[in-house]
Amino acid sequence: AIERTLSIIKPDAVNKNIIGKIYSRFESNGLKIVAAKMVYLSEREAEGFYAVHRERPFFRDLVKFMTSGPVMVQVLEGENAIAKNRDLMGATDPKKAAPGTIRADFASSIDANAVHGSDSPETAAVEIAYFFPSSEIYSR
Ligand code: CMP
Repeated sequence: AIERTLSIIKPDAVNKNIIGKIYSRFESNGLKIVAAKMVYLSEREAEGFYAVHRERPFFRDLVKFMTSGPVMVQVLEGENAIAKNRDLMGATDPKKAAPGTIRADFASSIDANAVHGSDSPETAAVEIAYFFPSSEIYSR
């Protein structure tokens, strides 16, 4: 089915000047960018976005990292977009990510892991709505 998923290019990858390289991977694999913006997240915005991780030991470091510089946020649309984006990203820990994935090629640590992608249809709906009203999503 045609799905939408939320993607974030994290501060490490924005700082490395590889937004275009990551966009190329989305585009050449059938994922269309139907909404996008650059955002410098406040602490409150980062905490809200990652609220499901609030009790995890890495939560403070995650918020600190995600507010360390601007991020690029986009909605990707395409056949099986949620799983496809996760395949393109590779495992959360770049050391465990398969060769040729975004994290294997561009990320340096589990915190500075270049990209985020929604993990289910339910999460995708919540995460997309967190950043984009439907009037800012341009599909077809
Ligand atoms: P992301 O997909 O953005 O979702 C939560 C983030 O927390 C994750 O990517 C990692 O960058 C970060 N993180 C740090 N430590 C861990 C961990 N042990 N397990 C999962 N995520 C972690």
